[in-house]
Amino acid sequence: MSIIRTQVGIVGAGPAGLLLGHLLHLNGIDSVIVENRSREYVIDRVRAGVLEQGTVDLLHAMGVGSGLQRAGLRHDGLYISFDGQRHRIDLAELTGGKAITVYGQNEVVRDLIEARVQTQRPLYFEAGRVSVTALESTTPTLRFEHNGDECEVRCDFIAGCDGFHGICRPAIPESVLTVYDRVYPFGWLGILAEATPSSDELVYTRHERGFALFSMRSPSLTRLYLQVPPDEPIANWSDEAIWREMMVRMSTRDGWRPNVGRIIQKSVTPMRSFVAAPMRHGHLFLAGDAAHIVPPTGAKGLNLAASDVLVLARALKAFYEDHTTAYLDSYSDVCLRRVWKAQRFSWWMTSTLHRFPDANPFDDQRQIADLDYLTSSRAAMASLAEQYVGLPAEVPLEDAGLPIGGSSEPLAGRRRDAVQAQVDDHLPVDVPGVANHVVHDPDLR
Ligand code: FAD
Ligand code: DHB
Repeated sequence: MSIIRTQVGIVGAGPAGLLLGHLLHLNGIDSVIVENRSREYVIDRVRAGVLEQGTVDLLHAMGVGSGLQRAGLRHDGLYISFDGQRHRIDLAELTGGKAITVYGQNEVVRDLIEARVQTQRPLYFEAGRVSVTALESTTPTLRFEHNGDECEVRCDFIAGCDGFHGICRPAIPESVLTVYDRVYPFGWLGILAEATPSSDELVYTRHERGFALFSMRSPSLTRLYLQVPPDEPIANWSDEAIWREMMVRMSTRDGWRPNVGRIIQKSVTPMRSFVAAPMRHGHLFLAGDAAHIVPPTGAKGLNLAASDVLVLARALKAFYEDHTTAYLDSYSDVCLRRVWKAQRFSWWMTSTLHRFPDANPFDDQRQIADLDYLTSSRAAMASLAEQYVGLPAEVPLEDAGLPIGGSSEPLAGRRRDAVQAQVDDHLPVDVPGVANHVVHDPDLR
């Protein structure tokens, strides 16, 4: 068995785990990231596309924003479409210049994996039988199998960044968790098509046949979603049927509609709202989808994951640098305040724009009145805009060791020696069989 000593064991190499690993690295805190899927699988998984202003600022401050700078598409506005008409909401004008950026989650993950590899800190892909134990002790343990080898990671803390179906949340005794859950009676069929986006900005459509969303990934790739039954087999939808339905729902009276192209990816995602509280148990901290799920309509999931790990990075930095636990103790409460506001916003966007199977004519008229009010009241548009671009950050970037308005390299370089000495002091010495805490994953060479 290989025994590895680290400060923070991170389960999951999605956005939450990779962002946390890099934030910790920038503060000289050691971590081991363990992911059960392959590197290709993690990068190829097509999911989120909308980054809040705060997430964009975070990626730049962390020094991982060059891909985003090159290929990210800044959107100053979005459209809400109903009754055959598109209405523009000017996000930038209503929020004092803030915007969202369309940049695929898989690109974010690719950039972060590259950054991780450069740090030479360990990242294991295709780990089998991942488990966490001794969570209530000061030495929680993360175990997994890798290339036939049994590995045990002895940590100070474990970060459960392993998504909704991971193993960390179920490792918390049921008696200490409160779960809030709502399952929606529909899902999203999402496609990626080789077609020039026919609008520069996203179009959220309410139609009597169901919700539809126009988005994009690049100047030559269109991303589209359709409301479908939650358990809809994708085989029910030929490419032709998908395009027919997209056109019926999205075409507006002014003649706008998406461009058609070859469909290169399609999948169905069910929708739910879910929160598990508290987000901490002993020395285990949950972050991102492991603790909460939002329906994708508000485009909040990845952004919440980024906010959680920023709060966690501040807490871990304060613990290692100042020996204080106050921020660790407030982690769950600080995160959950934002999570609930995002839950409320995502639920509202979802229920205003989707067709519920049991909707009656009253519900239809109420939805239309809601959208009519939204698109004609500056106050209502400002409220949507403020939430869509992202509420103010829970933690100033500098509290998590990041420079404001620039790349983090100088800061990391400047502080590295002092912090690294502390890390080294902290590591056990002369423990037989203990591997060097920086272990390279052969998959990454
Ligand atoms: P995940 O991305 O789920 O990562 C968890 C990782 O842990 C995965 O790599 C997984 O393989 C790994 N893992 C699981 N189990 C184990 C185990 N036992 N051991 C080790 N590793 C494990 N969000 C937005 O902000 N904006 C959007 O526009 C948006 N659009 C979306 C559209 C769709 C169709 C969907 C499905 C989601 C969308 N989201 C959006 C949500 C967003 O994709 C998620 O919230 C985000 O991926 C959460 O990141 P995470 O790191 O917490 O979890
Ligand atoms: C995308 C996804 C979303 O959930 C959303 O609300 C807007 C855009 C996208 O994948 O581009």
